Amino acid sequence: MCGIVGYIGKRNALPVLMDGLKRLEYRGYDSAGISLVQKKRIKTWRAVGRVSELEKKINIEEMGNVGIAHTRWATHGEPSEKNAHPHSDCGKNISLVHNGIIENYAELKKLLSKKGHRFSSETDTEVVVHLIEELAKKKTFMEALTEAVRLLEGTYGLAIITSKEPGKLYCARKGSPLILGVGTDEFIVASDASAIVSHTKKIVYLEDGEIAEISPDGFNIFNAKNHKTAKQIFEVNLTDEQVKKQGFPHFMLKEIFQQPDAVRNALRGRVEKFLSEDGGPIPGGLLCVEKRLKKIRRIVIVACGTSYYAGLAGKYLLEEFSGLPTEVESASEFRYRKNTIDEHTAVLAISQSGETADTLEAIREAKLKGALTLGIVNTVGSTIARETDAGIYCHAGPEIGVASTKAFSSQLSILVLLTLTLGRQRRLSFSESKALATELQKIPEKIEAILRDKNTIKKLAKKYAHFSDWLYLGRKYSFPIALEGALKIKEISYVHAEGYAAGEMKHGPIALIDEKFPSFFIAPTDSVYEKTMSGMQEVKARKGKILAVATAGNKKIKDLVDDVVYIPAAPEAFSSFLSATVTHLFAYYVGTAKGYDVDRPRNLAKSVTVE
Ligand code: AGP
Ligand code: GLU
Repeated sequence: MCGIVGYIGKRNALPVLMDGLKRLEYRGYDSAGISLVQKKRIKTWRAVGRVSELEKKINIEEMGNVGIAHTRWATHGEPSEKNAHPHSDCGKNISLVHNGIIENYAELKKLLSKKGHRFSSETDTEVVVHLIEELAKKKTFMEALTEAVRLLEGTYGLAIITSKEPGKLYCARKGSPLILGVGTDEFIVASDASAIVSHTKKIVYLEDGEIAEISPDGFNIFNAKNHKTAKQIFEVNLTDEQVKKQGFPHFMLKEIFQQPDAVRNALRGRVEKFLSEDGGPIPGGLLCVEKRLKKIRRIVIVACGTSYYAGLAGKYLLEEFSGLPTEVESASEFRYRKNTIDEHTAVLAISQSGETADTLEAIREAKLKGALTLGIVNTVGSTIARETDAGIYCHAGPEIGVASTKAFSSQLSILVLLTLTLGRQRRLSFSESKALATELQKIPEKIEAILRDKNTIKKLAKKYAHFSDWLYLGRKYSFPIALEGALKIKEISYVHAEGYAAGEMKHGPIALIDEKFPSFFIAPTDSVYEKTMSGMQEVKARKGKILAVATAGNKKIKDLVDDVVYIPAAPEAFSSFLSATVTHLFAYYVGTAKGYDVDRPRNLAKSVTVE
């Protein structure tokens, strides 16, 4: 997500703000900006790209004791200078930065436009500053801000300055973190402590619904009922690096623990459409191609690595619930193979980075053949996002660990939404679609149940860490997860592992099995469980060790396998979300047990922009 920094105090704000933005760069972003209060006016600078691009635009001599700064992770409106924060009101008296998503921005924008407000960006954020301006016509600034945030739906972390109160810095929080550093005659507001700890270790945490009014000699914090609240000042003794990982030892583990929220963010404002009967539900990003979607006769998914395995899971979903024939191709193969793409084909690119060269070139090839090109991308404004005809952003936030984990959960979520959309345009009934959407909303809490059981997985990882080979096996919806799990343990702990369709094992790979060659079976209670059991018996008969993922309550499996990790019961189509988290945690704990740098595995890059 983006980064927010605010400063008010005796020092010049600019160096503190710029340093803060640089400390927040790890959070990932696409543009940045700064506003300073200078005498009776506000001056603002904004730039696309790195913070260094912004720095080039600002004379370091620029003075001002109050200011706000922002690195943007775009959700509404592509990365551009006009969409970069800070945003200002019509009168240029207020400047505001925002972290989060304003879900009801469209209706607020319509209302404010009718009142004569002129917007200069495509962002959801800009409505907030105009709303405050409108309300401040008849109220104090604090009253206007309090009323404005009450009208907002969605999530926000806000930092605001106004030339009408040059000695004040305001901030407000709901759903997006904001903290206040308490210095000597100065205060620093930021999205996380990494922008603060170099100035002060004294921290006040803002809670959802709270608003802070800050001046150089003190601060007041008001709760949602506008009552002043006393706040405890905490002392943090964390290094910058520790703060960025929010207490986790590695970004990879932090991002695995962000999987529940990654699913929630992917569904937010979208899954609700499948719970009500009005009209043809469709995620906003696909509206522009709604008619063409009705005409497609098949789907080809192109992707690489983990995204390719998400695509495989998508194949099972799409064919089962939308009836559309779906092929999944490694982008690197698709490009060079004689393909049968035409204008009745939708080619779907799945990519966390949105910059993977093979996937990008596959999309370009598909466009040449007249296909409808779609994207499921995490990085807003990335090349693949821009070059596809339409798409759905993951909104998983930046994924720093080289191994893709939360993005995978997000991709699966979006694939379900795409399946429901295409299914409702075809043979999927409203009740079927509603049932699936309802079950999908329960996935985050089921992933959380697995995360609470992390020590079981950690113990097993230690027990099995010495093995140098693995077979990962699964059928139907578990097959893509077998492939993903094998990839994860390969790339994180350098252990040789092969993912296979469990039914395929007897056609050769079983020759590998002995007591030194364990198998990882993904065996939820589903329509193919009995068949998967036979595979386990075949392995057992050859003295192979078995670590199985099974559905909670399945006690019988313990008679057959060596160890079990239980996952909550879920519809067959959604068990992949849960077993994936188990394979990610297992790979993480094996890698750390072996002492490897799991965030930066050898030979790997986070985004493979070469062919
Ligand atoms: C997955 O853990 C790997 N880092 C890699 O396979 C990755 O999924 C692949 O390079 C595709 O990246 P993308 O999703 O950014 O296109
Ligand atoms: N939704 C806002 C935008 O797209 C803020 C995104 C962020 O958190 O950076 O500009």
